[in-house]
Amino acid sequence: MKRIITYGTFDLLHYGHINLLKRAKNMGDYLIVGLSTDEFNQRKGKACYFEYEKRKQLLESIRYVDFVIPETSWEQKQVDIEKYNIDIFVIGDDWEGKFDYLNKYCKVKYLSRTPKISTTKIKTDLKIPK
Ligand code: CTP
Repeated sequence: MKRIITYGTFDLLHYGHINLLKRAKNMGDYLIVGLSTDEFNQRKGKACYFEYEKRKQLLESIRYVDFVIPETSWEQKQVDIEKYNIDIFVIGDDWEGKFDYLNKYCKVKYLSRTPKISTTKIKTDLKIPK
């Protein structure tokens, strides 16, 4: 059983997110998503349109997602990888190189982002404050 983990905010869920989650799941058997909490997002300078529980509910409805855990800090990744026996850490290539240090604990893979879509773009297009 190959276990995969990824992290993100997944606000205003869009097809770029679905593509990422589908490819992540197809790399193994069980996909865990570390979902940034509203407090953690605030610390990152991000405001969410959908609060944590709503974003979690949406993610849990996706067939590629097996389990959602809260992401509350930058440091928790290595703890999660050991705790959940993770084989591969996956994230979009906007983070290329940033998580190479996790190679000590599991494989690290960066996936190409889906072009021309992001939460920021949706917010800008719909004039939702960022
Ligand atoms: N992602 C992707 N393709 C996109 C948008 C996001 O593959 N077009 C991936 C990111 O690389 C990340 C995950 O989806 O691994 C969650 O990204 P997130 O930051 O929540 O979404 P964005 O749309 O990038 O949000 P923002 O504009 O706020 O940065």
